Amino acid sequence: MSSFRAYRIRATGATVQGGYETLTLDDLAPGEVVIQARYSSVNYKDALAATGTGRILRRFPLVGGVDVAGIVAESADPRFLAGDEVLVTGCGLGESHDGGYSEVVRIPGDWVLPLPDGLSLFDAMALGTAGFTAALALDRMEQNGQQPGHGPVIVTGATGGVGSIATDLFSGQGYEVVALTGKADAADYLGMLGAGTVLQRQALAMGARPLEPAQWGGAIDNAGGDTLAWLTRTVKPWGCIASIGMAGGSELHTTVMPFILRGVSVLGITSANCPMSRRQRIWRRLAGDLRPRHLEHIVSDTIDLDGLGAAFDRVLAGQHRGRIVVRINHNCG
Ligand SMILES: NC(=O)c1ccc[n+]([C@@H]2O[C@H](COP(=O)([O-])OP(=O)(O)OC[C@H]3O[C@@H](n4cnc5c(N)ncnc54)[C@H](OP(=O)(O)O)[C@@H]3O)[C@@H](O)[C@H]2O)c1
Repeated sequence: MSSFRAYRIRATGATVQGGYETLTLDDLAPGEVVIQARYSSVNYKDALAATGTGRILRRFPLVGGVDVAGIVAESADPRFLAGDEVLVTGCGLGESHDGGYSEVVRIPGDWVLPLPDGLSLFDAMALGTAGFTAALALDRMEQNGQQPGHGPVIVTGATGGVGSIATDLFSGQGYEVVALTGKADAADYLGMLGAGTVLQRQALAMGARPLEPAQWGGAIDNAGGDTLAWLTRTVKPWGCIASIGMAGGSELHTTVMPFILRGVSVLGITSANCPMSRRQRIWRRLAGDLRPRHLEHIVSDTIDLDGLGAAFDRVLAGQHRGRIVVRINHNCG
């Protein structure tokens, strides 16, 4: 562990670029728990951060990767012992604190979760931030009264990481799922995950009235922008919209009509700073009643650290499907 390999992001003037470096523990941000990483994953945010396409990183240089799963190597936190299997998602990892794209990761103990029974380290990263976020959205919607009998739940950006897992989770919970995608050839994949109907984003007539005919019992939105505005106008009375992403835009132009005439709720979903007690409960659910039924099909690629650059390009071009797992340590199978 004296030196190890990591994918570190640097800024030179306005140019942000990631590359492979050999580091020692002293190069990493402080923390009580040192983890030998086994797997990480590629999220949209990782691609934005590593390429500078989005202003994600709070300091440079920084090791990328918002997710990690691995084995505790040493711990000054009595809650963790060498040999424990653990995972971390969000909490500033790969954003303000050196992240998961590294053979060795050092993290504050307060961010570390024991691997829930029933999940492998690989499963945990197949889910990663995307799976945690999809489950957090479902949980929040349930707490706000969403039920399958309310009507179909529409999932936007359906072939992405969050979208694929949300499609699987909601159909597994008995919801009728409508998948909205920009990919012409995704119907079989989304149908296999549990979508009853697949709609093409390009063929959508969104209308412009403050209220359009109410069609959806609820919505999982990864797109933002015009798509989220359209959802506010088309969700049925008392339905919930989980606002998760902005793959299509960060602005929201709508009126108060959906809120005051239909009681529609827009629920903000933020995974990175989710409180620990809720985080633990959601991960337990992901290993239990919410465990996706098609996780092996949702993982489209398992890459090594060397494959990160190409993976970021595919994610930013909207060309990939499902989840990309990063195998950090070559001895981990
Ligand atoms: N709030 C949180 O805590 C949180 C957590 C995780 C992710 N996110 C955000 O949620 C979004 C999805 O994350 P992810 O990891 O699932 O990303 P991802 O795997 O890259 O999926 C994004 C999907 O969005 C769709 N898309 C691409 N361009 C679009 C456009 N112009 N308009 C509408 N849809 C478009 C594509 O799916 P189709 O081709 O099927 O349409 C794409 O696969 C991102 O914006 C991400 O930053 C937020």
